[in-house]
Amino acid sequence: MTKTNEPVLHIDHLQKKFGKFEALKNVSFDVYPGEVFGFIGPNGAGKSTTIRTLLGILRANGGTATIFGQDVFKDSVSIHKRLAYVPGDVYLWPNLTGGEIIDLFLKLGGSMHSQKTDDMIKRFQLDPTKKARTYSKGNRQKVALIAAFSTDADFYIFDEPTSGLDPLNEEYFQKSVLELKKQGKAVLLSSHILSEVEKMCDRIGIIRKGEIVETGTLAEMRHLTRTVIEFKTIDPAPELGSMPGVHNVVTQANGLQTFSVDSDHMTEVMDYLAGKQIVSLQSTPPTLEDLFMRYYNTDENTKGGVKNE
Ligand SMILES: Nc1ncnc2c1ncn2[C@@H]1O[C@H](COP(=O)(O)OP(=O)(O)OP(=O)(O)O)[C@@H](O)[C@H]1O
Ligand SMILES: [Mg+2]
Repeated sequence: MTKTNEPVLHIDHLQKKFGKFEALKNVSFDVYPGEVFGFIGPNGAGKSTTIRTLLGILRANGGTATIFGQDVFKDSVSIHKRLAYVPGDVYLWPNLTGGEIIDLFLKLGGSMHSQKTDDMIKRFQLDPTKKARTYSKGNRQKVALIAAFSTDADFYIFDEPTSGLDPLNEEYFQKSVLELKKQGKAVLLSSHILSEVEKMCDRIGIIRKGEIVETGTLAEMRHLTRTVIEFKTIDPAPELGSMPGVHNVVTQANGLQTFSVDSDHMTEVMDYLAGKQIVSLQSTPPTLEDLFMRYYNTDENTKGGVKNE
């Protein structure tokens, strides 16, 4: 990711109210060319509202958002010439065939059916001759994805695009997004499939109740949490449990010991264990799912922050 470039998307303190309800209180993040940005958060957090504001469908009540340096609401017509968007629940005209709808989507977006379109139809194994009303949810999503991936845009926005795809098509989706990234395109991907986000996204923004609570790379976010270590040493390591940053030291039936350690105390702990002659050691960093659960299990009723319980 080259951050020297100007961001494709720049959001600064975006706010959106529905009546008195503040759906977006404070949303700020940037997406750069050649970057896949993962946008995650629980149901109702404000992901689709943010995206609908970016598309110029909703008008913000405060803050600013620009795409290609242009205002998302005032300049939406010009922005949309270089933008592709796929929603999670795709509406299709029931009496048109998949192929006709793909071409219609392309035309509406100012593009045309190309070799790329045929390649994508093949990749996602869609039968484009069938009427849309006969399509399953996954097939409806494929229609929108094929149109988006065969559009030559500079910025691609996907709002939970894979919820109806089987694992094979999910893989084709990931492959197609990585191809966009390689071409230097910018991608905003909202998803509940955290393994997908973990695998594909360069940076991640977590939204909660209309506010961005964390932005960064997965590695940066992992620093906020603990790593689980399983090890065996020749000499006993009795001081481990009282070392700063070490938690939950447990000796298992097989003689291996496990504990968790705060990232900022890792070095001292590793030095200590090395002095006890390590036979085996395995470290498991927290997954995005662990991080996500940590955020959302911490609501008003439970004390303590996200960082270290
Ligand atoms: N048109 C609307 N009028 C009133 N409230 C709305 C409207 N659109 C969204 N909301 C509310 O704004 C909040 C954010 O909704 P949004 O659809 O952005 O959530 P989301 O993060 O996309 O959730 P999900 O993961 O379920 O897709 C929700 O509380 C929702 O009920
Ligand atoms: Mg949504």
